[in-house]
Amino acid sequence: MSNHHDEVQAVIALMTDEEKIDFVSGHGLWRTAAIPRLGIPSIVMTDGTYGVRYSMTQIDSGSDPEAALAAFQAVVNRRADDGGPGMFGDTHPATCFPNGNLLGCSWDVALAEKLGQALAAECRALGVDLLLGPGINIRRTPLAGRAYEYYSEDPVVSGDLAAGLIRGLQGAGVGASLKHFACNNSEIDRTNMSSDVDERALREIYLAGFERVIAKSDPWTVMSAYNPLNGVQSAENHWLLTEVLRGEWGYSGVVISDWHAIKDRPAAVHAGTDLDMPESGPRKARLSAALEAGELDREALDRSCRNVLSLVRRLSGLRVPAAPVDLVRHHALARRMAAESIVLLKNDDAALPLKSLAGKRILVVGDGAIRPTIQGSGSATTNPFRVDVPLDEIRALAAGAIIDFMPFAKDGVGDLEKQTADVVVAARGADAVVLFANHRTGAEGEGTDRSDIRLADGQDALIEAVASTNARSIVALTMPDAVTMPWIEKVDAVLACFYPGQGGGAALAQVLFGRVNPSGKLSTTLPLRIQDIPGFHTYPGENGHHTYSESIFAGYRYYDLRAMEPLFPFGHGLSYTDFAYTDLYVDTDTVAPGVSVKLQFSLCNMGKVFGQEVVQVYVRPIEPGLKRPVRELKAFSKHALAPGEAATVDIELLPRDFQYFDTATGRWTLRAKAFAVEVAASSRDIRLSRILPCESEPIPVPRIATTSSPAAVFSHPKAEAALKSFFVKRLNLDGDEAQGLLDGTRKSFLGFYDTLSWSIGESIPEPELAALFDALDEEEP
Ligand code: BGC
Repeated sequence: MSNHHDEVQAVIALMTDEEKIDFVSGHGLWRTAAIPRLGIPSIVMTDGTYGVRYSMTQIDSGSDPEAALAAFQAVVNRRADDGGPGMFGDTHPATCFPNGNLLGCSWDVALAEKLGQALAAECRALGVDLLLGPGINIRRTPLAGRAYEYYSEDPVVSGDLAAGLIRGLQGAGVGASLKHFACNNSEIDRTNMSSDVDERALREIYLAGFERVIAKSDPWTVMSAYNPLNGVQSAENHWLLTEVLRGEWGYSGVVISDWHAIKDRPAAVHAGTDLDMPESGPRKARLSAALEAGELDREALDRSCRNVLSLVRRLSGLRVPAAPVDLVRHHALARRMAAESIVLLKNDDAALPLKSLAGKRILVVGDGAIRPTIQGSGSATTNPFRVDVPLDEIRALAAGAIIDFMPFAKDGVGDLEKQTADVVVAARGADAVVLFANHRTGAEGEGTDRSDIRLADGQDALIEAVASTNARSIVALTMPDAVTMPWIEKVDAVLACFYPGQGGGAALAQVLFGRVNPSGKLSTTLPLRIQDIPGFHTYPGENGHHTYSESIFAGYRYYDLRAMEPLFPFGHGLSYTDFAYTDLYVDTDTVAPGVSVKLQFSLCNMGKVFGQEVVQVYVRPIEPGLKRPVRELKAFSKHALAPGEAATVDIELLPRDFQYFDTATGRWTLRAKAFAVEVAASSRDIRLSRILPCESEPIPVPRIATTSSPAAVFSHPKAEAALKSFFVKRLNLDGDEAQGLLDGTRKSFLGFYDTLSWSIGESIPEPELAALFDALDEEEP
């Protein structure tokens, strides 16, 4: 055992029971408990994922348990669009970077790592040791209130971006909390509604991102989710937190509860939750009572103390004197991240970038141009120290063009027909119109799902009306996740900005005028209609259970399975240049157990401007012998290329990338006739592909019983011979007679014993045959 372990163990041995209970419970809203007697300091943690939300009153003025719950609820329930001076009154100004929904579209792991470094610098300046992010729940439905915080509907994108962020953060000495483990995919009755998910979907989709992040970046803490998973509260789920997370994945950090998520405190200790956040007098009392009554496993409590102490030691050891942050540099990073993530969804006749501007009239429409929504609502919100105003940024880059502005309601309130008529009159005199459109704002965000995916009232009609004028119509969309676009065929260009953070205004202007060539690609599918959303027919659950009816077919996997056209597919995003994909080389002729597959191809920028391309590698199983997604993303990378420049792209696919999770054996399994490896520009734009035959793993012999069908019995390699000699002996038959008896059962769909007894009655009792089958099962595990 290591010295560190011994030392930690020795300190735990000195703790009283009361100290132990304090130590595995928070102190106030944002700290762990200090034990000065033993030289143990407290550590400070705060949200969030794309910016630091440091509450000066809550963190600086210590703990007042009564005020704490009220203060916590107030933030979570507050809407980012409420704005006003009270909104961030007690929150330290910080950089509001692009939210997860836009960062996900960067597909840029290095950029995520930069974000982690920037967040760490802001944490350190405020004395924060542990940042409560990133969140990587799968964007299962665009209705989810917290979709804006998360990266993607795919675990590879979510996992790799989060791992990058965590490496940046922890590399700079600030801990991460990977959350919300697991299946926090809707806000409806979020602490009670059980996410009911079959094991394959869990392993292949919902847990896969977490597994990936843990392997690639080892987050120092994992935060469990509010919701029950398959009926068991996540914070009290032994299978999830101990068997899978620690046992199978070898995770050795701290498991933190989500805020007030624990319902049964002793059960949470047994399940593997180390730290109950935030402080709760009643929960501490319950834990204490269980300990006194001898109902709490002392070793489990000590294990949690050990884990928390190791974390406290690590974080306090990494503390450095607070240094001021270069916020100007962070604002520039926020702009760059947004500019490199915005997705150009449509660009007919090269409507964008706007060029030859001198004397042109550009009409900017919509209140979003002067009062942008830069982020979602809830605990992740950041108090931006500065916000770019898109209209100002457009004016700053307009280079001789005349920029006019017309208001249009963001919230669907007012005389929308009159506003539309006024805009159309102005649009007739314009060369191009940039329309700021947004989803219907309401109560969505943390705590509430959206109820539809339409734009705010009046905006669809406005866009149609403007598109029917002669001006070029360019739509810039702000949204937490998908919106419908009934006007898509009529407009010239569309940019998806999601929630772009405080630098979004400048980023958009840079993209509009071609200062930045867009390189974002969608990290979720945009559906044509709300009814097309995977799992729509069982969303949001009832009687406390939400069945994930689409199972492994999350996101694009569902649209592919059903051969449905989405509005825009997963992975889609245009550029102001074109990229050619050529010369695919694959280093192996077959896919075999335990073998990695290396791909190499050439990527060339064919256009006249610098650009970046996100390349995607999918694996498509051919005759896999069970239901599998048509294709699944397994790797990606992003490449910057000057005009005419070519790069050689190397990508390695690992054995796991070809496997599915076999629930019968509980193992990742390789089985298919072949696989196509596909190099793609989007999930619906495959550029290069190669088919590789597969050497499957041997199929385990299914167990047989007297109730198995004869076909199942005969599929056991030794059953027929064993039965024949058994009949010869037991029924005094010759070989041919025994064979005849067996052949007589062959076509029956009923149980083997039932079928057999039509010919031989009960002359062989069922238990005797059962013993024979058991022996055969033992031989072939
Ligand atoms: C959220 C977490 C957050 C915590 C602390 C909870 O409501 O689910 O994501 O870290 O509050 O603010």
